[in-house]
Amino acid sequence: MLRSFFLFLSQQPVLRRWVETSPLSRKITARFVAGRTLNDALAVCLRLADEKIHATLDRLGENVKSLDEAAAARDEYLNSLEHLTAANIGGSMSIKLTQFGLDFSTAECLANVRQLVLRARELNTIVEIDMESSDYTDRTLEIVRALHLETGAVRAVIQAYLRRTGGDIARLCDAGIPVRLCKGAYDEPSSVAFEAKSDVDANYVTQMKVLLDRGMYPAIASHDEKIITAALAYIRERSISPDRFEFQMLFGIRRDLQNKLVSEGYRLRLYVPYGEAWYPYFMRRLAERPANVLFLARNMLRF
Ligand code: FDA
Repeated sequence: MLRSFFLFLSQQPVLRRWVETSPLSRKITARFVAGRTLNDALAVCLRLADEKIHATLDRLGENVKSLDEAAAARDEYLNSLEHLTAANIGGSMSIKLTQFGLDFSTAECLANVRQLVLRARELNTIVEIDMESSDYTDRTLEIVRALHLETGAVRAVIQAYLRRTGGDIARLCDAGIPVRLCKGAYDEPSSVAFEAKSDVDANYVTQMKVLLDRGMYPAIASHDEKIITAALAYIRERSISPDRFEFQMLFGIRRDLQNKLVSEGYRLRLYVPYGEAWYPYFMRRLAERPANVLFLARNMLRF
C-alpha cells in the first residue's frame, strides 16, 4: 500500500519539479545519490576503488520529453564514460532506455545507445541496460539482444517479480547475454508480477541458481541477507569460482553487507547514481523501505 503510494508520487511531474529544485534537496538525497555532478560521482568511484569495490555509473534521468533530450543524455553519458576511463577507475555504465528516447522511437533509441556501447567496448567496458516498467520489457530486451550480437558489451537486467522472468532468463542464457538479476522496483499489476514478497523472493532464488549454473558472468543484485546467504550456500555447494559472477548493491544501502562480501573475497559492484534528475530514483528507494521516510524527516529537522 505505502509502496504503491510512493511509486504513485514518483510519477507526479509538478511535485518532482518542486522537490528537485528545493534548497533542501542535497540534504534529502545524500544517502542514496552520489552527488549532482560527474566530479562528485567520480570522487565516490575513486573511494570505492580504494575499498576494492567496482562501480556502475548512472547519470540519473528517465522518460525524456524529446529526442533532442535523448541525444543530450547520450552525449552526457559519452562524456562520463571518457572521464571514468581517464580517471582509471574501470567501472561500467548503467542507463535507462527511456532516457535514450525509447518513448519516441525504438530505432532512434537503439542508435543512441549503440554509440555509447561501441565506445564502451573500445574502452574495454560494458553498458548495463536497466529494466524499467513492464511496458518496456520486450523493447528493452530487443535492444539488448541486437547490441549483444553486434558488440558483446551489454548486460541485461531482469526482474524476479515478473511472471515472465523464467523464460527471459532461459533465452538470455542460451544467447550468452550477461544478466543482472534484481527483484524489481516498479508498480506492476498482479497479472504480470507476483504480489507477495515471498513469491518474488522464491522466484529470485530459483532464477539466481539458473544464472549461476548457466549464465554468462551474472550479477546478483540484492541487499536481502536471505538471498545473499542462499547465493553463498549455492556457490559453495557447486564450487562456483568467485570470478564467475559478481554481487551488486545500490550506493548508500547496507554498507555492512557490502564490506562483509568484499572482505570474504567476493566481487562487488555498487550502482552509483548522480545528477539533478534524482526524484523518481529517490522515490523508488523510499517505496522499497518506507521506514526511510523517518530517516529523511530526521535529516530535514536537523536543518
Ligand atoms: P528487499 O527489498 O527485500 O530488501 C532487503 C533489505 O535490504 C531490507 O530489509 C533493507 O535492509 C535493505 N534495503 C533494501 N532497499 C532499501 C532501501 N531503499 N533503503 C534502505 N534499505 C534497503 N530494479 C529495477 O526494477 N530495475 C533495475 O534496473 C534495477 N537495477 C538495480 C541495480 C542494482 C545494483 C540493485 C542492487 C538494485 C536494482 N534495482 C532495479 C532495484 C531492485 O529491483 C530492488 O527494488 C531493490 O534492490 C530492493 O530489493 P532487495 O533485493 O534489496 O530486497
